[in-house]
Amino acid sequence: KKRVGILISGRGSNMMSLIAAARELDYPAEIVCVLSNRPEAEGLSKAAAAGIRTGAFDHKSYGSREGFEADLDKALRAAEVDIVACAGFMRKMTAGFVEGWRDRMINIHPSLLPSFRGLDTHARALEAGVKLTGCTVHVVRAELDAGPIIAQAAVPVLEGDTSERLAARVLEAEHTLYPHALSLLASGRAVVAGEIVQLPQGPINQAKPL
Ligand code: GAR
Repeated sequence: KKRVGILISGRGSNMMSLIAAARELDYPAEIVCVLSNRPEAEGLSKAAAAGIRTGAFDHKSYGSREGFEADLDKALRAAEVDIVACAGFMRKMTAGFVEGWRDRMINIHPSLLPSFRGLDTHARALEAGVKLTGCTVHVVRAELDAGPIIAQAAVPVLEGDTSERLAARVLEAEHTLYPHALSLLASGRAVVAGEIVQLPQGPINQAKPL
């Protein structure tokens, strides 16, 4: 099994969906640690309650981004992590840190990339009047919210949606998509080939219908 370290900043609902999936005997990855840049992140106590090793590195207590990332990197390597899964990790990362985990660090983003990179994705989707939005799991590159796409799920925008209602509908899709995408990568069924992820033949790149 691949050893996975999860990076969070807050609530950790996607983290919990990965922890739950990885409890299945035939899942190709195990969650070995959960690390946060915010010591007060709700997800840390949820992970600890699930019996996962946790660590907090308060970014505000570091003089530089590099110093913070060096400690994070050290903790991931000490845990012998194979794959880093960002799950609501809200810190920008330097190219150096990202390159150290090239093709082995993934992220979930609440839009159909390359649309709506960055923050406030749901408010911007509503403002743009799109009728479909969704979520994307991608391999992390130095450029923010860019990188080879492993899997996506589409979610309809409905009449009367607020960004909160839309966020809740997309989050439900995220909780299915992320375990699916991590499984594809950890099992070797998804292969990063330059800036494209190759998947086996068939409708395997679709998460289970919601
Ligand atoms: C999720 O919706 C995730 O897609 C988003 O933050 C939320 C974290 O929720 N991530 C980003 O916006 C990354 N740019 P969670 O802590 O409950 O998983």
